Amino acid sequence: MGMEKTNEDFTVYLAQRKALVEEALDRFLSPGNGVPERIMAAARYSLFAGGKRLRPILCLAAAEAVSGAWTDALPCACALEMIHTYSLIHDDLPAMDDDDYRRGRPTNHIVFGEALAILAGDALLTEAFHLLARRDLMTGAPPEDRLEVIRLVAQAAGMAGMVGGQTLDLQGEGRHPEPAYLTDMHRRKTGALLIASVVAGAVIAGATDAQKEILAGYGEKIGLAFQIADDILNVTGDRVMMGKSTGSDAVRGKQTFPALLGLEVSQARLAELVDGAAADARRLGERGEPLVKIAKYIMERKS
Ligand code: IPE
Ligand code: IPE
Ligand code: MG
Ligand code: MG
Repeated sequence: MGMEKTNEDFTVYLAQRKALVEEALDRFLSPGNGVPERIMAAARYSLFAGGKRLRPILCLAAAEAVSGAWTDALPCACALEMIHTYSLIHDDLPAMDDDDYRRGRPTNHIVFGEALAILAGDALLTEAFHLLARRDLMTGAPPEDRLEVIRLVAQAAGMAGMVGGQTLDLQGEGRHPEPAYLTDMHRRKTGALLIASVVAGAVIAGATDAQKEILAGYGEKIGLAFQIADDILNVTGDRVMMGKSTGSDAVRGKQTFPALLGLEVSQARLAELVDGAAADARRLGERGEPLVKIAKYIMERKS
């Protein structure tokens, strides 16, 4: 009974944070200012297509764990979601994973065409950094911390991080899965931005080095866990529930954890990482509790 109540509370927590993120995204990427209508429509089509908003929620939860105050991190949370959405639009392009279904609707290039989908991705990436650099936002954080956030998000999204990971993902297609390659690919492709999400939230909230280190360890574990869960769901998940195509990794010969280790061992590895992440979050005290629950949610999610 107690447990059920806790789960219920957490579901409400997730829904509330998601609503706040969406409201803020709507404010930060709104039509007007002479922006050509078509590019705004393409960017907003994917940005407001649903999505779990996990990266912004993690960013806010990390800020909350550090200082209790988290609303100042909202612009950063939105920037992370814009970068993530850009990565999905480009990932679905014919030149990459060639997917036609995402977030429960036809992919961006199916609706707007490839050229506009490429531009919508470019726009979201660029607008994200504009948002991070705006003088009128996140004014509670000193300039050197603001700069630190821009630096770490750029690094996570760039060649050493997500873009590098996407490169490894494409190069690894059709090749026999190899443990070190796979782990490195996942760490860059998905882990880097998830780590950046928690650390950036913490920096904005004025975290100590010790707190940042704990959160980086947490992010590292949930980052890998998240991608293992994504690999598993590509095999076992439901297309409608997921809002994206399933079974596609095997078809494209992607390097994945289930392909390497089988479903059962992958599941065990996932559980181990989530336990480790939960232990990290507990070291932050009472206010780290949402991060504990988010780690578990990453393992138990069905979408
Ligand atoms: C999907 O990310 C793509 C990966 C990085 C594996 P999410 O599962 O967070 O997708 P949305 O944001 O909920 O659509
Ligand atoms: C998604 O990766 C894009 C990035 C992580 C940048 P995947 O190709 O593995 O995920 P899905 O299955 O399309 O969401
Ligand atoms: Mg891909
Ligand atoms: Mg894909």
